[in-house]
Amino acid sequence: MRKALKLYIILFFFVLPPTAIAQNNFDLIPKPALLRMDNGLFRFKAHTSVQVSPEFRASANLLMEHPAIKEITIQKINAKDPADILIKKATKADQLSPKAYSLQIRAKGIVIKAWDAPQVIEAIQTLLQLGYLQDDPERLAAAQIIDQPRFSYRGLHLDVSRHFMPLSFLKKYIDLMALYKFNQFHWHLTDGAGWRLQIKRYPELTEKAAWRTHVHWKDWWTHGRKYTDRGAPNAGGGFYTQEEAKELVAYALQRGINIIPEIEMPAHSEEVLAVYPQLSCTGLPYTQSEFCIGNEQTFVFLKNVLDEVLAIFPSKYIHMGGDEADKRHWKTCPKDQALMRREGLKTVDELQSYAIRQMDIYLQSKGRKLIGWDEILQGGLTEGATVMSWRGEEGGIRAANTGHDVIMTPGSYLYFDSYQTDPRTQPEAIGGYITLEKVYSYNPVPAAIASDKVQHILGAQANLWTEYIPTTEHAEYMAFPRALALSEVNWTPPQFKSWEDFHHRLQSHYRLLQNLNVNYFRPSYNVAYRAVYNAADKTSRVTLTTEQNDPRNIRYTVDGSEPVLSSKVYEGPFDLGKSAKIKAAFFWDESPIGPVLEFDVDIHKAIGKPVQYISQWDGYAAQKEQTLTNGITGGLTYHDGQWQGFTEPIDLVVDMEATQPIHTIAMNFMQTIGPGVYMPGEMEVLLSGDGRHYQPVGKVMNDVSPKEARLTFKRFELSLDQPVNARYIRVKASNPGKGYLFTDEIMVY
Ligand code: ACM
Repeated sequence: MRKALKLYIILFFFVLPPTAIAQNNFDLIPKPALLRMDNGLFRFKAHTSVQVSPEFRASANLLMEHPAIKEITIQKINAKDPADILIKKATKADQLSPKAYSLQIRAKGIVIKAWDAPQVIEAIQTLLQLGYLQDDPERLAAAQIIDQPRFSYRGLHLDVSRHFMPLSFLKKYIDLMALYKFNQFHWHLTDGAGWRLQIKRYPELTEKAAWRTHVHWKDWWTHGRKYTDRGAPNAGGGFYTQEEAKELVAYALQRGINIIPEIEMPAHSEEVLAVYPQLSCTGLPYTQSEFCIGNEQTFVFLKNVLDEVLAIFPSKYIHMGGDEADKRHWKTCPKDQALMRREGLKTVDELQSYAIRQMDIYLQSKGRKLIGWDEILQGGLTEGATVMSWRGEEGGIRAANTGHDVIMTPGSYLYFDSYQTDPRTQPEAIGGYITLEKVYSYNPVPAAIASDKVQHILGAQANLWTEYIPTTEHAEYMAFPRALALSEVNWTPPQFKSWEDFHHRLQSHYRLLQNLNVNYFRPSYNVAYRAVYNAADKTSRVTLTTEQNDPRNIRYTVDGSEPVLSSKVYEGPFDLGKSAKIKAAFFWDESPIGPVLEFDVDIHKAIGKPVQYISQWDGYAAQKEQTLTNGITGGLTYHDGQWQGFTEPIDLVVDMEATQPIHTIAMNFMQTIGPGVYMPGEMEVLLSGDGRHYQPVGKVMNDVSPKEARLTFKRFELSLDQPVNARYIRVKASNPGKGYLFTDEIMVY
């Protein structure tokens, strides 16, 4: 009996290694450049012995974070005594490129090789992630990984001015960044909503400018925007002492992450000017956001601040802001005007450039480099500056093509303060609509960059502005999992990227994020759609998507009825030959588990007909003259290339190219008041046979309140009692909100 049992154990042991591969999870994010599974299984023991080349000694301590490692001894390399984990400096014989690491997992031990510490840290982070991904972190299948990043700059930003975030959270943020191979943390430390770093020479910055009358930014923003004293009953805010900032710098450095502090100038500086009003043009607090450039004391102040900042942050890059300056005050300020005359500066843009150049020269004298937002291109880019392109990619393209380094952080892809799913289902955000898939689709090297300038794109960064993000839990919700998509954008060459493959691997990371207690955005049960008109066969191709892994849980109808269990299962894109009202929902067992999506596909008589613009679109051209009769309606965001934006009342003529009976005319509008997008007051329709004499045939009045804060869509539809024969259809829409009007299609039946 005992013998038989023993044999069974031995057999079991022998059978294990091949199945070990199947049981192990190698769904790494970002995807490694080379991953080869081998036979065998490494087992972590209660005590792990590590041998390490001396230069990597500090990095080896990170292994303590592996979920299977309880105790560790770290020693120098000793060929006689085998180690569980060996960390060696690469040699020529390894044929490893300078930015790569090699991670070899075998039954008898794990070997990490690299030339430098950052790559050793990346290898250890891969090992940690593998630990987090396993059901049983003590067992790891044999494999060989050779890996290196596409970009040297892999950034994540956090605004701690709009809402202060405690140091403990910043460490968690850094941990997660490191796990996903980010290497730059852009710490937005100062802004109009609060100064967050102790500066010993200027105590008022943290005794007053770090404290607001309201904890929540929105309350403060809508109620006077005043600062109060530290310790006052209502004071909301906070700051980091220099010791705390140094602690975070060291913490990040050990995890391969450099911290870039941002000290905003010349704008976004209301908090400084509230406590040192002598640095503004008026000399009065609460009058402007911009420093007075013509006042020498401004530069004395900024350089003194920088002296303390540089002593805390070893970063080669220091961010000086430079965005969104309102240059009005400089135009009338005697000090600014005198400086402009003295320096021969012709415009206030050049005055801003002068200010940035002073900072650039100062930073260079200290062996550092300046980063600024893309507005620093206006008025001439200072020589040593690196540009952070946020207002789209144009600034980045211009800077790279003229030989400047660029970090891409375009608002349309990488602003993680945007909504990530249907805004109507989400906590209030600043606006926008950037899904996980949209982040994943981003390529930081636009086609317009000359091939010999591509190396100036250092990489990409996502920004997390916190106006509408008052808590650390909410910050996690907005950053994750979108940060995982960016991680792969920065790491993996485009030819090896695949959304389907990433989305599949992501499923394993939900448990990892749960285990690490990250309040990530759970994939919603919303259904989204795309309808693309095909002029050749006059059909519309409808694609339904879900954030869940399996779209076959979507059921839909095309006759306006509610989707039920017996409704059509979504198997893939389908074509419609006539107009339809579609309803779709994600099903769990027998019933919808999310909201029912409802939309119209319009195959109408004006498709392909020319549109004459009596009033022109403004800024948001979408598909220009084709937009409003291309058969394609817009989605949830006015950035999607189908919504055309107007700031004047709309006045357009559709030429139907032949006289015909007109029954119905409809236009869609959207309202999202955060960015100033409103419904028209009314839509009016006039018809004409000759294009000169128009007959008004009716109006549709708006019934959506201009105070309605949720994203709202309305179809303005005019149905005539009797069809009218006409060739020209003139549509007008008033603009009482004086903001933007957005419309996507003029539908005619
Ligand atoms: C920015 O978003 N103002 C850089």
